[in-house]
Order: sequence, then structure tokens, then C-alpha cells
Amino acid sequence: MGLRDDFLWGGALAANQCEGAYDVDGKGLSVEDVLTYKPDTSNTDYKKHIAVTLEGIREAMNDKDNTYYPKRRGIDFYHHYKEDLALFKEMGFNVLRVSIAWTRIYPTGEEETPNEKGLAFYEDLFKEMRRIGIEPLVTLHHYEPPLALALKYNGWTDRRVIDMFVRYAKTCFEYYGKYVKYWLTFNEVDSIFRHPFTTAGIIPDQCKERSVEECCYQALHHQFVGAALAAKLCHEIIPDAQIGCMLTKLITYPRTCAPEDVYLTQKKNLKNMFASDVMMFGEYPKLILKEMENNGISIDMAEDDLDIIRKYPCDYLSFSYYMSMAESADPNAERTPGNTVLGVKNPYLEASDWGWQIDPEGLKISLIELYDRYKKPLFIVENGFGAKDVFEDGTVHDPYRVDYFRKHFKAMIEAVDEGVDLLGYTSWAPIDIISASSNQMSKRYGFIYVDQDDLGKGTLKRYKKDSFYWYKKVIESNGKDLD
Ligand code: BG6
Repeated sequence: MGLRDDFLWGGALAANQCEGAYDVDGKGLSVEDVLTYKPDTSNTDYKKHIAVTLEGIREAMNDKDNTYYPKRRGIDFYHHYKEDLALFKEMGFNVLRVSIAWTRIYPTGEEETPNEKGLAFYEDLFKEMRRIGIEPLVTLHHYEPPLALALKYNGWTDRRVIDMFVRYAKTCFEYYGKYVKYWLTFNEVDSIFRHPFTTAGIIPDQCKERSVEECCYQALHHQFVGAALAAKLCHEIIPDAQIGCMLTKLITYPRTCAPEDVYLTQKKNLKNMFASDVMMFGEYPKLILKEMENNGISIDMAEDDLDIIRKYPCDYLSFSYYMSMAESADPNAERTPGNTVLGVKNPYLEASDWGWQIDPEGLKISLIELYDRYKKPLFIVENGFGAKDVFEDGTVHDPYRVDYFRKHFKAMIEAVDEGVDLLGYTSWAPIDIISASSNQMSKRYGFIYVDQDDLGKGTLKRYKKDSFYWYKKVIESNGKDLD
């Protein structure tokens, strides 16, 4: 009973949220570099932080100051990575999930040859991880497509982007294959409908002939083809590698057992897993195709697209899990934000300061459901608690974070004891970084505190929080000591 002996324990980061150095060593602008932090919006108002217009993008491109563009500075992992890796190792990590910024390798996405300095950065990073015994788990596309592709092609809506992505993926496999055995293509591949710009470089103002929704379906189809072609190349170039799918597991419960609540809930859950169904099973679910038809959504597919998708499915399913929500047919049911969603409040659950409902049992249910559905190994590649930490006496006392993780680990281990094949767990994020949805620094997830505020003031010094020592103990005991 308990976790496998070779269980992978660690943390997860994304280049755009931690690296900073957005214009250093030839890096091009990614879509994230033009997203603003708006101090006047409430913590829970994620839509304002991720909304984009063509005018706003142009304005951002002319503004070289990074005060209101926090992802341009991140936590300067680009220059601090050795120190950060040493801290992760001290906690006992044997895996770290990172992403490669496409724009460091191909600054606009269209170059024929890669940027040497960008290549060198990740080579050094992976070498250092190997040297200290941390397995790299690498995402190729974590919300950071080149801005140039968004402006010129409306991102992934254009089929030509597939080839550019495949060229980029091939470069990564060729250069980093000797260091990296675990790969992921698209972070939260299902998220395109929630934030089309960051997931796929779609600028709503540019969706002229088609609705934004139809653009999303088209772009997602191109991502499926890109992911399948990347999987094919990955296996050819690195025979001992595994390449996975990455899903935002947004589990929804019916608010009551009224059949109409159950039906709406079923719809939400099916839609949530549609993208992973395609990437894991190698085919579109029939119900989704019918739904598209019923809604007048029509997308272009090349003749052999479906064949490519069928031939190269994923080796494992990874997912993020933070919260759960409910659904109700009652239009007046009270709603609360979650991970870039608005769900119905669940009276049995407490919520974080951002309204995300805390549900450890939901992790267990998700693990069992996903393993039963896909029958391939699972990897939890994001899970964590965003909170407003108080920094005092050189540390943060964060029992609320320990409490969140303790309950989630317990649930995770229970699912494993029921038979779920789980490869590993990477917490989001092991060190404080910029929030994806709110662009805040003050929404902190880490076991390590970083001295920086929302507007970029601070020394960037790193400090261990109380939870740092607790997670170390958990890893040392392979999940047996959760006290
Ligand atoms: C996940 C994303 O959905 O949620 C991460 O993959 C993100 O990039 C994480 O940081 C937490 O969300 P947020 O908005 O609190 O940073």
C-alpha cells in the first residue's frame, strides 16, 4: 500500500511566470508579455487580467516599462535558477516540471534556425537538474505562444502554425533528448475556451469571419494535430521518452440531485474532458462532434488529420487540480470563481481568498475517474494553494498551506491504494511566482517566499516558509509522514 518506491515528487513552474528576462538573449515577445496587472480590480476578477484587445496589445508593445507587465520580470528565475534548484533539491525533489519558452528558441515562431542563446539557457538548466538528480518534466507550450504569431496569423487558428510548432518541438527533442524523458505538449489543452489568447494566441478582435468560439475549435484542432505530430517525433528522436497530455481537471458536481442539475453537470464534465479524450483515445468524441454540428460550428480538417491524431496518442495523462465546483439549473444559484471559471457554490466546501473551493476528496474522485476512463498512468502536475502570505521574522508561517497539501496528499494516496497508477506529483508552484490568471505576485503558492510585490518592488531574495520543512519531511517519507 502507499506510493510506488520510484514515485516522483517535486514542483511545477512555467517559463512565463518565473523566468523574467523577457527581452534578454534574443527572446521574442510572447502573448504573456503584454498582459497587464490591474491594481484596481478585485482578487477574483480574473477576466479583467486576461482580457485583450488589439489596441491594448499595441499599447503594451510600446511600453518598455515592466511595472504593470509582471510576467516580463517573473521572479528572475532566468538568473536565479541555480539557487532555486538547490533549494528544491534541499526539499528532496526528484522531479521538476518547467516549460520552454517558444520565444527563446524561435523569437517570432517563423525563424528557420533557432536562437543559440535561448538553446543554451535550457541546456544549462537541464544539465544542472541532471547534475543534482532532478528529473526534468518539460512542457513545450505553457500559455506562451509567440506574440508575432498571434498578430500575424491569429495564433493557432491558422494551420501554418502547426508546422512552426512542429519545427520548434523537433528542435527541443534533438537538443534536449539526452536530458529530458518526460514531455508534455500543451498545458491545460482544454483551456482554450476560457482564455483563447494565452492558450492559442487568438485575439478576439481578429475573429472577423468566424465567432471566437468557432476560432477556438479550429485552433484546438490544429493543436491536436500539432500534439500528435510532436508525439511521433518525440518517439522517433528519443525512443525512451514518454509524452503526455495535460488537462485542467475541473470536476463539477450537481448542486442537487434534481435530474436537470445532473444533466447540466454531465455536460460540463464531458466538455472538460473532450480535449484529453481526443489526445488519449486518438479520436473526437461523437457527442462533441454532434454538439458542434448542432451549434453551427464547422472547422476545416485536412484529409489525413484524423489519421494522424489516431496514430499518435499520448503515453500518459497529466492534469492540474486545484478546486471543484457545482452546477445548477437555477439561474439564481450563487456562483464563485475557480480556476478561470465561474461555478456554483458548494455549501460543503470552504474557499481560498480568490473564491476557489477547496476539495481534497475531489482529487481522489478525479484520480479514480481519470484512471478508469483512460487506463494509462496519471501524473498530477499541478496542485496547490494560492494565499496572501504574511512575511515576518524572515519567514512565513503558513499552516493553511500545509493543511491544504496534507488533505490532498491523503486523498491522493487513498486513490493509489484503490488501484490508480500514479507516476508522480508536482506542486504548483514550489516557489512564489506570478499568477497566471491575475498577474499578481501577492497570490503566493510557494514553499519558498520571494521578496517582490505586485509592482515589482523587492530584493528578489528567497526565504524558506514553514511549509518548506513540512514538504521535505513528506518527500523523505514518500508520503507516509503527513503530520
Ligand atoms: C493553472 C495554470 O491553471 O493554474 C498555471 O497551468 C497557473 O499556469 C495555475 O499558475 C494557478 O493559477 P493562478 O491563476 O492562481 O496562477
